[in-house]
Amino acid sequence: MAVSDDIDLSDALTVVMERVRPHIGEGKVADYIPELGRVDPKQFGFAVASVDGEVRSLGDADVRFSMQSMTKVFTLALVNQEGEDHIWGRVNREPSGSAFNSLYQLEFENGIPRNPLINPGAIVVTDELLGDTGDAFAALRALLRAETGNPELDADEVTARSELETGDRNRALAYLMAGFGNMRNPVPEVLDHYFRQCSITITATELARAGLLLARHGVRADGTRMIDRNAARRIMAIMLTCGTYDAAGDFAYRVGLPCKSGVGGGILAIVPGRYSIAAWGPGLDAKGNSVTGALALDTFTQVTSCSVF
Ligand code: DON
Repeated sequence: MAVSDDIDLSDALTVVMERVRPHIGEGKVADYIPELGRVDPKQFGFAVASVDGEVRSLGDADVRFSMQSMTKVFTLALVNQEGEDHIWGRVNREPSGSAFNSLYQLEFENGIPRNPLINPGAIVVTDELLGDTGDAFAALRALLRAETGNPELDADEVTARSELETGDRNRALAYLMAGFGNMRNPVPEVLDHYFRQCSITITATELARAGLLLARHGVRADGTRMIDRNAARRIMAIMLTCGTYDAAGDFAYRVGLPCKSGVGGGILAIVPGRYSIAAWGPGLDAKGNSVTGALALDTFTQVTSCSVF
């Protein structure tokens, strides 16, 4: 792995801020979930946590924002606890090349989503987790509370309701999968868990801490192993190929790290064995990725040469 051993995180963060500052506020805040549309776009937070416990941050790194699709990585890790093969009959592992809430591909691929990081794939994972645990949302919240170190971490119920009220596309995806026999639990119940999952709020600093679960290849903050090393490696491979919607190729080119973005403007990136990085800027590009978040990660990997390539 192309990693330099003498990285000065303070210097790297200074360069990131210099590069990003003129662009803060760029992009369009997601408004298809009305509550997200109310977020001030002129914010930017960045945090890096290292596997040996150092955390560095800058800007609005302690402001809470909506996790949205970044939760999909953690629910995937939770279902992988039951043994890896368990989920893969219900969802594939290929980049979709289409929007995260696209319906047409799901229809002609017989209700099997392309990957677990687009909406239909994540709904299947939440359904599976609900079957495994009886309460998918509670399982995810408990994991994130432990890994962030914030015992109060929770869903924002206003955002969850906003998603429920405007979530017809997700309902369509879930019912289409149910029609193909790929849902285990009643659709309204699964979506209730999925919407609350997406509306969990987190800070960049907390997110960087939580991502260490993957940077440490499956070892939790308390030192216990949650998923085996191979499962962690494979989740990161899926992040690299599928984690930033249909811009995953461009992210691999620009950033060169496994990443997962969310429409709340967050991006989680992992340097396996070294760092977990959280970038947040609410303004999104046309594909739904944070403009400043992508620029920050691009800059960080250029300055530090931290990359899986
Ligand atoms: O279901 C939705 O559309 C949002 N709660 C999450 C979307 C998101 O962040 C992009 N997903 N892959």
